Amino acid sequence: MSSEQDVLYQAAEGVATITINRPKKLNALNLAVIKTMRGFFQQAEEDQSVRVVILTSAEDKAFAAGADITEFKDRNSNTVRPLVESGQELCRYIESMSKPVIASVNGFALGGGCEIAMACDIRYASANARFGQPEINLGIIPGYGGSARLPRLVGLGIAKEMIYTGDQIKADEALRIGLVNKVFDTVETLRAETLKLAKTLVTKPGVAIRLAKQSLNKAWELPLGQNLKFETDVFRQTFDTKDKVEGVDAFLSKRPAKFSHR
Ligand code: COA
Repeated sequence: MSSEQDVLYQAAEGVATITINRPKKLNALNLAVIKTMRGFFQQAEEDQSVRVVILTSAEDKAFAAGADITEFKDRNSNTVRPLVESGQELCRYIESMSKPVIASVNGFALGGGCEIAMACDIRYASANARFGQPEINLGIIPGYGGSARLPRLVGLGIAKEMIYTGDQIKADEALRIGLVNKVFDTVETLRAETLKLAKTLVTKPGVAIRLAKQSLNKAWELPLGQNLKFETDVFRQTFDTKDKVEGVDAFLSKRPAKFSHR
């Protein structure tokens, strides 16, 4: 099967949906899948009509059960480099996109699957979702940024427990520790609520969303003083946008705002 069929892309009404579709291998992420996903995220970024991206999977059993372990077998520290670098670069690209990316997670989100979900802005999950970083059981460690992003999301102690044990956690536990934003009873509800969130975000002013994402991402990277300085700079930028004029005028005129994303 070609990698194009292993990942699907669809865009409608401002929402691009990228769907991992390798069900026989529980959506294991081989190099071709990672490269195809990367191309689709870039397509979504460059398409001016797209305002929000959803990352999901075609079947219920797995969001992605991690990097494709068959590609590990004959590699050493040198030859594994393209695998780790392409996965890390994909995650960085998702984070640096100007548009919000929602991970809609059903089934297993393990290893690279969990790591890519963590690079997304918002994670919604169904009750059947299972999260984990099981790399330790292969004698390796997370390589798409799990040791960096998991402690930032859930705290160092819980991240260490998850990465040292490799244990899976259920959706309700993922919700409790802050790894996901919301959990829904069924996959159908998950899909409907993900789309509802995406459609809400489509209506928001695009420049402000982009700048908010940049400023929020800096919370992971900068000391507080520099973070606040960055926020001041991008806050001021929003004051030169048409959307700020429209938003403030709409409020004061007691009418709904209609943003042009400029
Ligand atoms: N890489 C490659 N193949 C994988 C895979 C992965 N990460 N995860 C699942 N698969 C394949 C299995 O080898 C199997 O292929 P086969 O039918 O050709 O034998 C198929 O997907 C179905 O998986 P299976 O293990 O039979 O399903 P299960 O329901 O018994 O178990 C999991 C599901 C997720 C618990 C189990 O597949 C698993 O532990 N996968 C690896 C998870 C992991 O370590 N990820 C991190 C990688 S760095």
